[in-house]
Amino acid sequence: MRVTVSVIKADIGAIGGHTIPSADVLAVVRDRVSRERGGLLIDGFVYHTGDDIALLMTHTRGKDHPAVHQLAWDAFRAATDVAKRQGLYGAGQDLLKDAFSGNVRGLGPGSAEVEFDERPNEALMILTADKTEPGAFNLPMYLIFADPMYSSGLLLSEALHAGFRFRIMDVDYTEGDRMITLDAPERLYDIAALLRDTNRFVVESIWSRKYPHEQAVSISTSRLRNIAGKYVGKDDPCAVVRVQKIFPATEEFGPAFALGPFVAGDTRGSHNLPLMPVPMNTPASTFFCCPMVCGLGFSMQEGRLTEPSDLFADPFWGGIREHIAQKAVEMRKQGFFGPAMLPMSELEYGGIVARLRRLEEEFVVAKEAAKAPAGTE
Ligand code: 13P
Ligand code: MG
Ligand code: MG
Repeated sequence: MRVTVSVIKADIGAIGGHTIPSADVLAVVRDRVSRERGGLLIDGFVYHTGDDIALLMTHTRGKDHPAVHQLAWDAFRAATDVAKRQGLYGAGQDLLKDAFSGNVRGLGPGSAEVEFDERPNEALMILTADKTEPGAFNLPMYLIFADPMYSSGLLLSEALHAGFRFRIMDVDYTEGDRMITLDAPERLYDIAALLRDTNRFVVESIWSRKYPHEQAVSISTSRLRNIAGKYVGKDDPCAVVRVQKIFPATEEFGPAFALGPFVAGDTRGSHNLPLMPVPMNTPASTFFCCPMVCGLGFSMQEGRLTEPSDLFADPFWGGIREHIAQKAVEMRKQGFFGPAMLPMSELEYGGIVARLRRLEEEFVVAKEAAKAPAGTE
């Protein structure tokens, strides 16, 4: 059976800051999705990561289907009315356009979708991150799909041995979507050269090379700033990942996510802090909105989902989180200095950029500055 798995997510407001959506807001979204279960959708599941609500939907309509995207858009719109009535912070934050036009791309919500012939034991992982950017998945995906030091399946399984094909998007290119396709392992250095620049180059999808029609990964790549023209919140990516058999095993993802790499995001979307794996429905952290990622495992039969397996909830992750929290605490000790804060080109709130523009007027060329300062003669 050919099935599409769609994850569409948006931040439409949160309680007391950028923390969690309210129960009433979540209830509206859940209600909209459950009304379509068995109709437009085969199945659906709604949850949140920090202040982002994710709609996981299975159906047979293919990627970017107007009716599926409209369902998500309408659910977010209806829930935004509730968010506004409750006075939630940033109500409707990610709904950047008024009118729906075919799919949510370019309207604010992020989407990641994979269409495939369902395997007898289809195994999926859904990743949803908050307080960070789509490039936050670059390093884990590189390690899991291209580095045998992390992904032993590349050595141990014939199905994985041919490697994977990376499609990488230039998210700073404003005239449409610019994409490059690079094969691992042959083009490893080129892939790494691009993926190190998380502000600009983002893994959009990963494909099997032995079975070229089999898609392993889809990652949302929207850049809200390019839609709105100004900062309106971080892009908070989501991903659909197929696992097991011809793809890396679920547990091969663990060590790469346990690294807690420093990524852009957190408070005011203007700093670098480590990406922390968290359980389902975790609030954003009051420790400077440390970037977070949730991983849910699902099995599927004819598009019907099991309940989720909360992949970062087992006891092992407690110690990992402690270590990552220490990294975050150390980085915050240096406040605004150096890599703790993003470079000027990436700063999301206008304040400091405007202030520097004003300071420009006070600069004088060095020769003039060497003369006695004004007022001392
Ligand atoms: P969100 O994008 O998750 O709303 O976070 C915005 C922010 O600036 C938090 O400090
Ligand atoms: Mg928010
Ligand atoms: Mg968010």
